[in-house]
Amino acid sequence: MSSNDLFERVAVIGAGTMGNGIAQVFASCGSAVTLVDVDGDALDRGVAAIGKSLARVVKKERMSQEDADAAMGRISRSTRLEDLSDRELIVEAVSERADLKAKIFRTLDEVAPASAILASNTSSISITEIAAVTGRADKVIGMHFMNPVPVMKLVEVIRGQETSDETTDAVMRASTALGKEPVEANDYPGFVSNRVLMPMINEAVFCLMEGVATKEGIDTVMKLGMAHPMGPLTLADLIGLDVCLDILEVLHRGLGDDKYRPCPLLRRMVAAGRLGRKSGKGFYDYE
Ligand code: CAA
Repeated sequence: MSSNDLFERVAVIGAGTMGNGIAQVFASCGSAVTLVDVDGDALDRGVAAIGKSLARVVKKERMSQEDADAAMGRISRSTRLEDLSDRELIVEAVSERADLKAKIFRTLDEVAPASAILASNTSSISITEIAAVTGRADKVIGMHFMNPVPVMKLVEVIRGQETSDETTDAVMRASTALGKEPVEANDYPGFVSNRVLMPMINEAVFCLMEGVATKEGIDTVMKLGMAHPMGPLTLADLIGLDVCLDILEVLHRGLGDDKYRPCPLLRRMVAAGRLGRKSGKGFYDYE
């Protein structure tokens, strides 16, 4: 790892599962990270989650307690985007609402230094559209981390229409410095990851709806037959069924092909509030 490639001053917007994971990996590698959330309680929960995850890494003897303490010490909190006037890289990881992201990027464009790179962890919203609300579309890029962030090796780096080679190169090198494997993708709906993953999850839900097999049966086929670490229905519960539905809608609308139509059972589960692990119930029970 070349520490020169890592940004020294980073901010992560959104202290949820993805945001706190991203903050953790940057802080573990040496960046000073400001974790931002409008909700102070969410910030507390995010920092507590980082503490828990670092404790797990220490227990597995993949990091010393001293290094974990130093990583925690590099994380500061804020509830205001205005505090980010000295950041070199800002990674947005708020919920997948285009209006919210547009509002955040407009403000970041005003408060962040002109040289700062503005990245989004979006899993499906167009980077080109996000970039268009700023006056620095060449410095806006997608940095799509996977859940759980401290464990998964991939960063899908998404180039918007105007993203420069310089910005892409800096983000690719920083991702490598984080110990991740970056892969460059262009800005089309779902990029590569969700364009390939979501139809598989959707098809698994169709199999369940049509009674092809039980949920355990479907998951076991994919785990034991295709060596996936978890079955597609278990994975959907981890990602969040509402997130899966949103991404399928983006694919369906953006690519205009009915092969991406969300399964009616997925819609029904989301309508019932069965969102997966985060709500305590999805295809499986977590209570
Ligand atoms: N923090 C730190 N370490 C963690 C962790 C966390 N939050 N979660 C798991 N780990 C570590 C464990 O300590 C363990 O370490 P060792 O290998 O040293 O023992 C290792 O990860 C494996 O964890 P477990 O033994 O607890 O469980 P597992 O072997 O069943 O693995 C899993 C869990 C890593 C989640 C694995 O099941 C997996 O890879 N699942 C697929 C996940 C996936 O596909 N993610 C992508 C989702 S899509 C997405 O995120 C993008 C999107 O846009 C929707």
